[in-house]
Amino acid sequence: MQSDCYLQRRQQLLAQLPANSVVLIPAATEQTRSRDTEYPFRQNSDFWYYTGFNEPDALLILSKDQQAQCEALLLCRDKDPLAEIWQGRRLGPAAAFTTLGLKAASISEQHEQLTQAINGKHAVYLNLGEHPALEQQLACIMQGLRQREKRGDIAPLALQDLRPFSSEQRLIKDDAELTMMRRAAQISSQAHHRAMQFCHSGAFEYQLEAEILHEFAMQGARYPAYNSIVGSGENGCILHYTENSSQLKAGDLVLIDAGCELAGYAADISRTFPVSGRFSPEQAALYELVLEAQLACIAAVKPGTTFAELNTIAEQILTKGLLQLGILQGDLTELITNKACKQYFMHGIGHWLGLDVHDVGAYKVATADRPFVPGMVLTIEPGLYIASGSSTAEKWWGLAVRIEDNILVTNEGAENLTAGCVKTLGDIEQLMKNNQAKAPC
Ligand code: GLY
Ligand code: MN
Ligand code: MN
Repeated sequence: MQSDCYLQRRQQLLAQLPANSVVLIPAATEQTRSRDTEYPFRQNSDFWYYTGFNEPDALLILSKDQQAQCEALLLCRDKDPLAEIWQGRRLGPAAAFTTLGLKAASISEQHEQLTQAINGKHAVYLNLGEHPALEQQLACIMQGLRQREKRGDIAPLALQDLRPFSSEQRLIKDDAELTMMRRAAQISSQAHHRAMQFCHSGAFEYQLEAEILHEFAMQGARYPAYNSIVGSGENGCILHYTENSSQLKAGDLVLIDAGCELAGYAADISRTFPVSGRFSPEQAALYELVLEAQLACIAAVKPGTTFAELNTIAEQILTKGLLQLGILQGDLTELITNKACKQYFMHGIGHWLGLDVHDVGAYKVATADRPFVPGMVLTIEPGLYIASGSSTAEKWWGLAVRIEDNILVTNEGAENLTAGCVKTLGDIEQLMKNNQAKAPC
């Protein structure tokens, strides 16, 4: 993305805040995996959204003075030839302006720069509770300012939560973000196809995961947006199953929930398919029911729709279908009122999607359900999970189906970003028709 898109985002953020405010957005820090090895570095989503800078140990300070004049300052690591030989390149403050369009200073000056930035300001905005060390440092700096009041220093009166401003901004995606999200959706769709085409009995769940990660990387998305879920048979009933260690058995279903991260943006796709490439009658019946609910929810997305309405649509369709299949028994109206389907559909219908897979943004406005507006991206992911021992006929036990797509709310209705990923029974069986022949003996 171009540096002027980050400038625009910073300007939009400050425009919402009162004069005499400061915003603090810290970068992520590296996380130890074991002893002296680290997890792959992942930038803090807010910091990334407002800077496009992918190094740890940095801080963005945005200031708006009494006259509403705005300034941005990046604190970042100094150049260090020895550290760069061992750990990798650093941008350094001197190059920050040409590379990022940001005035910069050394992170070693954090205490002095923070003192100067907050002195005389009315409020400091940051993600409260997320950065305890920074909050402690601020408390110490503010106490120092109070002690120097006679010399003209003025401590801010309040620390305020930034989220109502930054999260709401991130909730509505701009064009540059949508370009990335469309591409992430496309890559992830192809990764699901690759896993379906590789799938055969005897393979391990982690090998399907490897196929997915291979496709991500080969198409330019090095990391998944979250740990991939590859659950075969009963494992599909564990909603966040990531062990991915079982061997696939003919006759089982596989549920894959996987999406890549591209330039920070997540895709989040679930597909369910038979190990053997052919759905059994029970598997097909359950699959068709989840698909009916999912298609009805997607068709209902337009400006003004709410998640609550989508949940109602999904619950009504699933309950009716479960009754018809004999999985639930009783009176339809009563079953819907009592939310009887929830024993097999335990999670919500979806969530916001963006830089975080469960993206930021309020789900309620005051206490009311929030109506969708154009530019929001959300998932629609109904599922049914019938674990062994459930109070229904044994022929349904161990079946788990989730179907998940990524939906952009548009002026006209909705755009399914993941429409390229196969999901009808016929299309899945067609894609997998040569699998067993290709499988190693
Ligand atoms: N992949 C996590 C979710 O679907 O919410
Ligand atoms: Mn999801
Ligand atoms: Mn998912």
